[in-house]
Amino acid sequence: MGFCILDRSGNVLTRHHDIRMKARSVLPYTEIIMEVLLSREELSEGIDRLARLVEDDRGEQRLVLVGVLTGSIMLVADLLRRLDGFIEVGMVAASSYRGLETTPGKLDLHLDLLPDVSQKHVLLVDDIFDTGRTMTALVEAIYARGAASVKSLVLLRKTSRTEVVMQPDYVGFNIPDVFVVGYGLDHNGAWRNLPEICLIDVSVGS
Ligand code: IMP
Ligand code: MG
Repeated sequence: MGFCILDRSGNVLTRHHDIRMKARSVLPYTEIIMEVLLSREELSEGIDRLARLVEDDRGEQRLVLVGVLTGSIMLVADLLRRLDGFIEVGMVAASSYRGLETTPGKLDLHLDLLPDVSQKHVLLVDDIFDTGRTMTALVEAIYARGAASVKSLVLLRKTSRTEVVMQPDYVGFNIPDVFVVGYGLDHNGAWRNLPEICLIDVSVGS
C-alpha cells in the first residue's frame, strides 16, 4: 500500500508507504483517494461467498448472467470464474451519474446487447445498489423481455440511500453513504482500474 501524490499529468511526485493516497485534479475538483475500504482479499472472499450462494440456489439451472456496464466489469469476470455449468453472458448499459456529480441524475438504459432471455433464468449483476433505481428499472425491463426469473446481485449496497421497494437478492457488502471508486467503479470516468474499493474525497477548488 503506498501513498503517492500525482501531478496533473499523472506523474508521481512523492511516495510513502503506510497509507494510501493518490490525487488527481480535474478542474475545478481535486480527487483524493483517502483509504482502502475493501482490500483485494476482502473482495475475493466476498465474491467467493456470493458465488456459493448463487450456486446453492440455482442447482442445475441454466443462467443468463447479465452485467451492467460499465461498473460491473471486474465483478462479472471474477464471478464467472467461480460459477459452473451452463451460463450465457450478456451486458446492458445503465448510467445515472453525469460528469463530476456524485448524486444520481436521469437514468439511461441501453438493452441492445441483451441476449434472448425469454423463458430463461437471469442473474443481473451490478457494482452497487445506491438508490436502487437502476436495478429496479432493469429487473422490470428484463421481465418485459419474457425472462422466466430475474435475480439481482450487487457487490455493494448503500443501505441508507434506498428509494425503492426492491432489494437485491445477493449483496456482497453493505457500506455507509460514502462515494467509492475502484474495482470497476468510477468518478468522472476514472479510477475503475484500482484493484480495491477506495474512499474518494472530492473537493472543489485546487
Ligand atoms: P442507483 O440507481 O442509485 O442504485 O445507482 C446505481 C449506480 O450508480 C451504480 O450502478 C453506479 O454506477 C453508480 N454509483 C452509485 N454510487 C456510487 C459510488 O459510490 N461510486 C461510483 N458509482 C456509484
Ligand atoms: Mg453503474
